Amino acid sequence: MIICSCNVIRDCDIRAAAARGCTDARSAYASMGCEFECGGCQELADDIVEQVLSNPPEIDQRAA
Ligand code: FES
Repeated sequence: MIICSCNVIRDCDIRAAAARGCTDARSAYASMGCEFECGGCQELADDIVEQVLSNPPEIDQRAA
């Protein structure tokens, strides 16, 4: 699902950025070479990052 229509960023893009260590939407967007334009997505994007940080994906030890 598209979260940011200005930058065409999907929820899965934000989740992946959070899993890579981004701690808020601004840093997640920066990691994708973007920044907020209208800012209308910021609250939702921050919520998505927060969800990932509070429930981090399990690391498959076989792949490590
Ligand atoms: S919808 Fe994300 S900056 Fe406008």
